[in-house]
Amino acid sequence: MGKKARTVYVCDSCGAQSPKWQGQCPDCGSWNTLAESLPVGLRALLSAAPAASRVLSEVGEEAAERRGSGIGELDRVLGGGLVPGSVVLIGGDPGIGKSTLLLQAAANLSMRTTALYVTGEESLGQVGLRARRLQLDMSRLQALAETRIEQILTETERVRPTVLIIDSIQTMFTDALQSAPGAVAQLRETTALLVRFAKNTNTSVFLVGHVTKDGAIAGPRVLEHMVDTVLYFQSDAGSRYRVVRAVKNRFGAANELGVFAMTDNGLKEVRNPSAIFLSRHETEVPGSVVTVASEGSRPLLVEVQGLVDDARGAHPRRIAVGFDTQRLNLLLAVLHRHGGVAIADHDVFVNVVGGVRITETAADLPALLAALSSFRNRALPGKLVVFGEIGLAGEIRPVPFGEERLRAAVQYGFKRAIVPDANTPKKPIDGIEVIPVKRVSDALDAAF
Ligand code: TYD
Ligand code: MG
Repeated sequence: MGKKARTVYVCDSCGAQSPKWQGQCPDCGSWNTLAESLPVGLRALLSAAPAASRVLSEVGEEAAERRGSGIGELDRVLGGGLVPGSVVLIGGDPGIGKSTLLLQAAANLSMRTTALYVTGEESLGQVGLRARRLQLDMSRLQALAETRIEQILTETERVRPTVLIIDSIQTMFTDALQSAPGAVAQLRETTALLVRFAKNTNTSVFLVGHVTKDGAIAGPRVLEHMVDTVLYFQSDAGSRYRVVRAVKNRFGAANELGVFAMTDNGLKEVRNPSAIFLSRHETEVPGSVVTVASEGSRPLLVEVQGLVDDARGAHPRRIAVGFDTQRLNLLLAVLHRHGGVAIADHDVFVNVVGGVRITETAADLPALLAALSSFRNRALPGKLVVFGEIGLAGEIRPVPFGEERLRAAVQYGFKRAIVPDANTPKKPIDGIEVIPVKRVSDALDAAF
């Protein structure tokens, strides 16, 4: 690159440039937001593709075709396979299985196309051992142990992969910056280079990202904006099941879930995930309610658990796992006001079984009934599913995909359903008795 270009410092918050590092941005006054960045001229140099406009109707055909990874659950979260020229960021705790999943996908893909797996974390020997342990066919898989982005991009010119995997983005760096790998500026610039590479060459790029203690992908938030798709790998502590969730997807539905089990031979797809999200109680127990979630494109039967106990301290606790804590507070207020049940001086816990996170309001009614069932120490009837949104006026509001949810419940042998009145099917569904409810008080009568 000849003469070393001088770096500039760019404010993360307002984008202002400054020739030297300062604690406070001279433009917007934010503290500690200046980070090293590439000068504009060098950026242009690194993206050598000529710009030419095109008639839009001629574009799009090639973008529409997707490539299957050979792993159905991964293709599902991606919205139906890999999109050429797209960049997917996949985040998750250390040891959860990111490298395993991508190595499995890379090996599958290498049978049909050219895949390049770049590791910055392990030696090639380690990767080879893992692939052998996973019994993967490595005869056509290209692998490279490298962390300098310039070297990697040079190697892509030789290999010309259609799929490039970077494991992990935190280990990558560009020579053009002085900061260490993992620094904000390095993350931003290496990601920018890889995004440009993907768009210019129509390569599908996967970036592995580490997450911080609070569960976000380490590095600036801007990484998630730069890529097309963001997937999160999640799991219950100690569980062998892994859920991959799309939190952002320019080419498919966000919130789509893929489910895997970690085995001795790597990650296996779980094609029937409802079975694992229902914990098998021998008999009906207080505090347990089954709901039909509709996360992504398929209905999912999930158990919601509630526990209400005398408060241990002056401030009763409200803790929800897999469910929004704010929402729980709101539901308890509605229960007090419109159901006449006061549990303000109790600790309330809500848990969604299996490490699933439910973000849709259809889980309102099941969460509330689970808490109340524990509070009253009375189990709900067996073979019952519940779903419905709760409004502040105590009304039970309809949710999308009512019939699909009911049909999924029938498949799993459920016989009764408490559902919002407006979700009553037009024609009765064989095998399930539907109990429509309009208000929280109706739901309490129906459940207990
Ligand atoms: P890994 O893919 O290295 O995680 P990440 O890249 O997200 O940090 O997963 C490593 C873990 O998975 C490790 O604890 C061992 C376990 N594992 C299995 O149980 N079976 C296997 O076949 C493999 C390859 C790993
Ligand atoms: Mg790894």
